[in-house]
Amino acid sequence: MKVLSVVGARPQFVKLAPVAKAFEGTGHQHVIVHTGQHYDAVMSDVFFADLQIPAPDVHLGVGSGSQGVQTGAMLGALDAVLEEHRPDWVLVYGDTNSTLAGALSAVKLHLPVAHLEAGLRSFNRRMPEEHNRVLTDHAADLLLPPTEVAVRHLAAEGLAERAVLVGDVMTDVLLRVRDAVAGTVPELPDGVDPAGPYAVATIHRAENTDDPARLRAVVEQLAGLPLPVVLLAHPRLVARASALGLELRTGSLHPTTPFPYPQMVAAVAGAAHVVTDSGGLQKEAFLLRVPCTTLRTETEWVETVELGWNVLRGDLTGVAEAVTRPRPADTGATPYGDGRAAEKVVATLAERA
Ligand code: UD1
Repeated sequence: MKVLSVVGARPQFVKLAPVAKAFEGTGHQHVIVHTGQHYDAVMSDVFFADLQIPAPDVHLGVGSGSQGVQTGAMLGALDAVLEEHRPDWVLVYGDTNSTLAGALSAVKLHLPVAHLEAGLRSFNRRMPEEHNRVLTDHAADLLLPPTEVAVRHLAAEGLAERAVLVGDVMTDVLLRVRDAVAGTVPELPDGVDPAGPYAVATIHRAENTDDPARLRAVVEQLAGLPLPVVLLAHPRLVARASALGLELRTGSLHPTTPFPYPQMVAAVAGAAHVVTDSGGLQKEAFLLRVPCTTLRTETEWVETVELGWNVLRGDLTGVAEAVTRPRPADTGATPYGDGRAAEKVVATLAERA
């Protein structure tokens, strides 16, 4: 079997890591295509290096642009690559513009498409990620949802027959790296004591960064928190804040460039709290049993909320109270699988190739 993975943005490199590892020694051929959506070393290269992902076989070098320009540039570049490789499966990951472009290119060329992390929904049609998810799920031949909730969403859209529950591959890599960094002292910006207490924050969603009034309000909330906040500043946040003349180094905030994955896991594991709008980080906080506050009105990872480890504060009210709330009751629940999802992904693809 020959599988061609299309990736391009940071969370996709994390998801690719366990999948690439699961292909090792199987005799299957795995081709990696990097669209170039994320191109800074801290957003891309360090993930390949730290997570021991083989270098991409093809790099499209697409870079930044508006939604349409970026997605269109990927589509234009992918045809020739997919034609050359003619894989048994084109495997796309998550919900970014790289996901949609990979799926659309493949279906147009009549190549079978599998969507890893299928079935997640926010039901918020203002998010670019929500369009990418829905369109990719309906284009794909095989859907690989991470949770029971995602399976139910697919069934509600008439897609149950194409779906196979595999679990969450981000859990595979998180558990592995958690064990590898256990006992290490987190490397934090100057002025933040790793002995704590401190919070870790990330903000990058268009709905939080692209409206100036909203971005100012988000930064004000984070800066006013009653503990030091390590802000892992995504390039989108830095660019939007600088265009507004908005200072990120203010109040409780300690901004820093995004961390490599192992450093991020160590920092979150040692944190008293996580404040974020990232999907992956909400779940990573839960898996590390660190309480999380999410600055969005909804989440795709509803299990984190139901189990009490995540609260939503999309309206930005009561954020400080949420961040200082008592720890929730401990839980042995494993809604994201057993850390062996990537092996199930490879086995499922091979059965259907
Ligand atoms: C994308 C995904 C989002 C995912 C996120 C993870 C889409 C629509 N969104 O959002 O689902 O959660 O990645 O990070 O695909 N930039 C750099 N250097 C980089 C990458 C980006 O400076 O290496 C800048 C670009 O100039 C751009 C901005 O960051 O203006 C945003 O990048 P973009 O690829 O549009 O989306 P993200 O916000 O990263």
